[in-house]
Amino acid sequence: MGYTSSPEAQRIEPLPYGEKYFPHHNKYLDFWRASVEDPIKFWDERARELVWYRTWDKVLDDSNPPFYRWFVGGETNINLNALDRWMGTHVANKVAYYWEGEDGTSRVLSYRDLFREVNKLARALQDLGVKPGDTVTIYMPMIPELPIAMLAVTRVGGIHSVVFSGFSPSALADRIVDAKSRVLITADGYWRKGKVVELKKGADEGVSLAEKQGAKVEKVVVVRRLGNPVNWVEGRDVWYHELTSKYPDTTYVKPVPRKSDDVLFILYTSGTTGKPKGVMHSVGGYMVYVYNVFKWNWDIRPEDVHWTMADVGWITGHTYIVYGPLLNGATEVMYEGAIDYPQPDRPWQIVEKYGVTIFYTSPTALRTLRQYGDEWVRKHDLSTLRILGTVGEPINPDVWRWYFELIGKMRCPIVDTWWMTETGAAMISPAPGISLVTLKPGSATFPLPGIVADVVDENGNPTPPGVRGYLIIKKPWPGMMLGVWGDPERYVKTYWSRFPGYFYAGDYAVKDEEGYFWLLGRADEVLKVAGHRIGTTEMEDVLIKHPAVAEAAVIGAPDPVKGEVPVAAVVLKAGYQPDEQLRKELIELIRTQIGPIATPKTVLFVRKLPKTRSGKIMRRLLKNIMEDRPLGDTTTLEDPTAVEELVKAWEEFKAQMK
Ligand code: WTA
Repeated sequence: MGYTSSPEAQRIEPLPYGEKYFPHHNKYLDFWRASVEDPIKFWDERARELVWYRTWDKVLDDSNPPFYRWFVGGETNINLNALDRWMGTHVANKVAYYWEGEDGTSRVLSYRDLFREVNKLARALQDLGVKPGDTVTIYMPMIPELPIAMLAVTRVGGIHSVVFSGFSPSALADRIVDAKSRVLITADGYWRKGKVVELKKGADEGVSLAEKQGAKVEKVVVVRRLGNPVNWVEGRDVWYHELTSKYPDTTYVKPVPRKSDDVLFILYTSGTTGKPKGVMHSVGGYMVYVYNVFKWNWDIRPEDVHWTMADVGWITGHTYIVYGPLLNGATEVMYEGAIDYPQPDRPWQIVEKYGVTIFYTSPTALRTLRQYGDEWVRKHDLSTLRILGTVGEPINPDVWRWYFELIGKMRCPIVDTWWMTETGAAMISPAPGISLVTLKPGSATFPLPGIVADVVDENGNPTPPGVRGYLIIKKPWPGMMLGVWGDPERYVKTYWSRFPGYFYAGDYAVKDEEGYFWLLGRADEVLKVAGHRIGTTEMEDVLIKHPAVAEAAVIGAPDPVKGEVPVAAVVLKAGYQPDEQLRKELIELIRTQIGPIATPKTVLFVRKLPKTRSGKIMRRLLKNIMEDRPLGDTTTLEDPTAVEELVKAWEEFKAQMK
């Protein structure tokens, strides 16, 4: 099978190379080859399918790497292509969003409805003083006003920063401060597993924390989703409906021309330092890339009903619920609530209700739904489905097969899309819209057109087939991030320094003998919990702020449903004793400071963390303990008893769980 005997390579589970689905002549690869032989011509042609105020002078400016700039000299506004372009066509009367509330209520918005709402809110934002280049923070649940707000902000030339509604007030505060937003758009609340989440309360707390750090939030626009009582700050807070109902339905705001390499939005994501980074995406490059990739991924046709079961607070939602579908004039489903509420067949009920043809979700969601049993699926008519997708984490081949057989009835290709917040849209994935390649369960197949990817070892040399290495992207692409908001150096350091000249993704990968890519998870200190990216350093920073904590290390432990979950190892300061109360307190601290998604499975109290003699925490070793693997090389360990204690604490915890 081509494995070497290196300890790294031995950690790869055997891959089901033999198993193949949809055997196709890989015509796709010819298309790909042409795209990378002359990328300038290729992207120039692709960009011309969209509407611009001014055509670019240059497709790619690569004079200042890694600050690559796309379609320079070009001017446009994403609204032109997502909304205005459709107004003179039949798409105006087509459904843009089927919205499904967790409580069973629903709303249907046509492209024309969306256009009207966006224009009214855009005018309102202008009246509130939002100017081109201003940032507006959006902290909203999954309701239609969320895409409306994003579009209204970009329409007036502003930059949106969407903060996931499940994040804590303090996470919101950090992002408001960093983005320097003066306007926040939020909602009174939303439903989650049948309970009201009082979002406005969180927003108020976030704003006051932000103001303590020097931010000035002048206006808070509040959507009334539930009608639950909310605290009101006169002069600062405004109801969305009062603000927009002032304007007639005929309100029109010209989409403000923006330079192709201006910032379209910021989206914060976790990295290897404590501070989340504001990933900036561009007006022109992101638009061109997302428009095309959405088309390639889903073979999108006028009659399709596409459903991305994700939150708009993540990049998957930005690209595959908002901009991708709208740029293609496609119909999208948007669902507010929990995937298993009120019953584990909720997704299948929604597929049936709206006649979903393309369904896109995460491996964690599939694992969750699978554990409830197949009868929930069998209750529903899923015959409208024609393509299935997955994103966010590696998909286990057995889950792939379950998805393929039970959900797709062996008719629907599984489009496993590998990408990141930083890349804008999928990078490595099947592309049924162009030509499907033969699928292998667990492999994201090949890079998309225009994308040159490889797997390399520590020294940047391509690894032989079957040997694990690091994933790199070798050529710029239009969907690439512009940089890190307010921190150009961090951009260079994080992505372009490890393998100079190449974009370092931070993922392990392996290529097989046929050149298929298999993505194997993060190679750095970032966890993927239920598909959500969380930095271990971010969590450690929260823990060490507690008066009892001297040192902390957070590691990912394998989890059958969520992929991995955080476990904290904590050393207490002298005078503090470990007990259940303190353990609960520390777990709660992470929940409230970061958000429920980051909740540690447990806290292991130890007297020492395993460190090298030079004082570096041996994360690899910690990880091996969590994964019940052999410890590996421990010769650099400063004090072997530290490991014994940790292993013991972990074993005790597991025994309790049984
Ligand atoms: C992981 C999500 C395996 C990967 C769009 C990456 C995947 C990180 C896949 C980015 C996939 C995403 N197979 N792993 N198909 N898709 N990942 O920024 O580790 O939330 O680096 O973007 O998710 O996470 P992010």
